[in-house]
Amino acid sequence: MLKSSSLLLLSGLALLVTACYYDVEEELYPTLECLTDNVNYSEEILSIISTNCYSCHNAASNFGNVTLEGYAALKTRVDNGQLLKVIRHESGVSPMPKNQPQLVACDIAKIEAWVAAGAPNN
Ligand code: HEC
Repeated sequence: MLKSSSLLLLSGLALLVTACYYDVEEELYPTLECLTDNVNYSEEILSIISTNCYSCHNAASNFGNVTLEGYAALKTRVDNGQLLKVIRHESGVSPMPKNQPQLVACDIAKIEAWVAAGAPNN
């Protein structure tokens, strides 16, 4: 009798603990999911831009007369301020990626950190 009721209590507790854990994990520890230290062009930035932007902005597509293929082309848009504006959906530019959901917060944070570090070709 005592054994089964404490088992019930234990499993009830376990359920509570896991439910709470899943509820708040992302809110409490967003930095665990998104590392913005030493963001590099060759892996992280290139992967975000090629996945989300190259369909319209590689050298061949060149939508809106904008190519983002390669470091030099992308750096031009960093220097004129357009890159951050379009991904942040600021006014005065077309929000990008065009007709698609905004980039996930971590991708935006990585691009912001990379630009803040001087957009190195690393
Ligand atoms: C589905 C096609 C498409 C995708 C995907 C896309 N763009 Fe564009 N982009 C365009 C078009 C078309 C234009 C020309 C302006 C317009 O028509 O809105 C443009 C314009 C731009 C401009 C110039 C700013 C302006 O106001 O004209 C920048 C910078 C840009 N895009 C960056 C990006 C970035 C960065 C991504 C990825 C995060 C991206 N684009 C994804 C189609 C696209």
